[in-house]
Amino acid sequence: MLRFVYFAGLLSLGCREPRPPAAQAEIVADTRQLMTALVEPAADLYWAAVGTVIDSTGTHESVPTTNEEWTELWRAALVVGESGNLLTMPGRSRDQDQWLKLSRAMTRVAKEAAAAALARDTAAVFEVGGRLYETCTACHVAYSVGIPRPGDSAQAK
Ligand code: HEC
Repeated sequence: MLRFVYFAGLLSLGCREPRPPAAQAEIVADTRQLMTALVEPAADLYWAAVGTVIDSTGTHESVPTTNEEWTELWRAALVVGESGNLLTMPGRSRDQDQWLKLSRAMTRVAKEAAAAALARDTAAVFEVGGRLYETCTACHVAYSVGIPRPGDSAQAK
C-alpha cells in the first residue's frame, strides 16, 4: 500500500513537469472588429435567408433556392460558430466564467444553424436563426453592449 502511494506521488510529479509552451495565437481583430467584420455580416446573411419581407411592392417570401445560396448559408453559420471559439481566446475573453458560457452558447446554436443549412431545412433555419439572435443579445446585455441590428456591419476604414 505504501509503495502504491509512493508510486502515485511520482506519477503526479511527472504531470507537473514543465510542458513546452503552447504556440501563442496572435490577435488580429479586437472583439469589436470580430463582431462587425465577421460575426455580424455572417449572422445577417443567415437571418435574411429565410423570412418574409413586406415592402411597397407587396409581400415576398425569401428562401434559399440555389446550391450557392445554401452553401453561403452554411458558410455563414460556420463563421459564427468558429467566432464563438475565437471569443474564448486569451486576450479576448473578458472573464473565465460567464463570458465563456455565452461564447459557447453562440457556438452551440451556430452548429445547429450549420446543420439546418446542410439539411436545407427552411423551417429549421428560421427557428435556429431566432435562437442565434438570443445568444447575441444575452451577451450584449450581460456586458452592456448595444443590441445589434441587421445592417450594423463595419466598413473597413
Ligand atoms: C460572448 C459575448 C458576445 C456574444 C456571444 C456576441 N457578442 Fe457582439 N459584442 C460583444 C462585445 C463585448 C461587444 C463590444 C466590443 C467593444 O466595443 O469592444 C460586441 C459588439 C458587437 C457589435 C458592435 C456594436 C457596437 O455598437 O459597437 C455588433 C454589431 C455585434 N457585437 C454583433 C453580434 C452578433 C450579431 C452576435 C451574435 C450572432 C454577437 N454580437 C454575439 C460580445 C458578444
